[in-house]
Amino acid sequence: MTEPELAGRRALVTGGAQGLGKKFAEHLSAAGATVVVADLQEEKGKEVAAAVGGAFVHLDVTDDASWEAAVAQAVSEVGGLDILVNNAGIEIASLFIDLDPDVARRIFDVNVVGSSLGIKHAFRTMGPGGAAGNGGVVINIASVAATIAFPALSQYSASKSAVDRITRVAAMESGKLGLGVRVNCIYPGLVPNEMGAGLANEMTTLGLFPSPEEAVAGVVGLTPSGRLATEDEIADALVFLASDRAKFVNGIGLPVDGGMGM
Ligand SMILES: NC(=O)c1ccc[n+]([C@@H]2O[C@H](COP(=O)([O-])OP(=O)(O)OC[C@H]3O[C@@H](n4cnc5c(N)ncnc54)[C@H](O)[C@@H]3O)[C@@H](O)[C@H]2O)c1
Repeated sequence: MTEPELAGRRALVTGGAQGLGKKFAEHLSAAGATVVVADLQEEKGKEVAAAVGGAFVHLDVTDDASWEAAVAQAVSEVGGLDILVNNAGIEIASLFIDLDPDVARRIFDVNVVGSSLGIKHAFRTMGPGGAAGNGGVVINIASVAATIAFPALSQYSASKSAVDRITRVAAMESGKLGLGVRVNCIYPGLVPNEMGAGLANEMTTLGLFPSPEEAVAGVVGLTPSGRLATEDEIADALVFLASDRAKFVNGIGLPVDGGMGM
């Protein structure tokens, strides 16, 4: 019998309590990894951790001290850290004419500062001399929104374009410093989960589409594959990037969007 491809690896998934993060935890676990679910939501996060036979750590990705404590706890509970998935993110739609700077800052705080702090603590932990100093993999979750111009997504799209850039800079820094950590990102297409449905509702509330169904049809109409993504399809790409099959894949953004992105 062949070993599962992530056997012996330890993975931390931020925002793992629900949605894509939960699906990533399940797929990483099915591929043999031991998974630490890190989230603000304790009850749901613990349920996912229990279901995948892993551990839960409380984490606010915007808080440096929270990262320090969460990564230390993860390393001590599962004996190391080989894979970090910077998945936690928020989406709040707004037209420019109504833009609230506090909302804009909040989006950047979670999506950009949060992912950047994750890279910081992954590098410190996985790099030579770190508490789990065998190198590893970081995968950041951007969005197809980083590569298109959809109305009312200015701040979200900008934050996800920033995730794309920090991915590439992080891969370069890791190489220059000899940290042994590959850093890539994924641009998922729209998924019909809580966040995806929320976005369709926001488009309707803002008067951009007559109904959530027509907002979804607008996205599908821009997608060569002619449908939305499934969470499983995004997770398949994640496991590939985490695995040794992708060992010479570094500093890229992988669209998993049915061709919608540019
Ligand atoms: N759903 C989609 O259609 C879609 C498409 C493209 C990209 N994405 C991206 O995928 C990622 C996951 O999206 P989702 O659909 O699962 O969203 P979701 O809202 O269902 O889940 C996000 C998770 O992140 C957690 N989180 C939020 N802020 C946090 C913080 N400060 N610290 C720790 N955890 C925090 C939440 O508690 C939640 O469990 C996000 O980065 C999102 O931008 C989603």
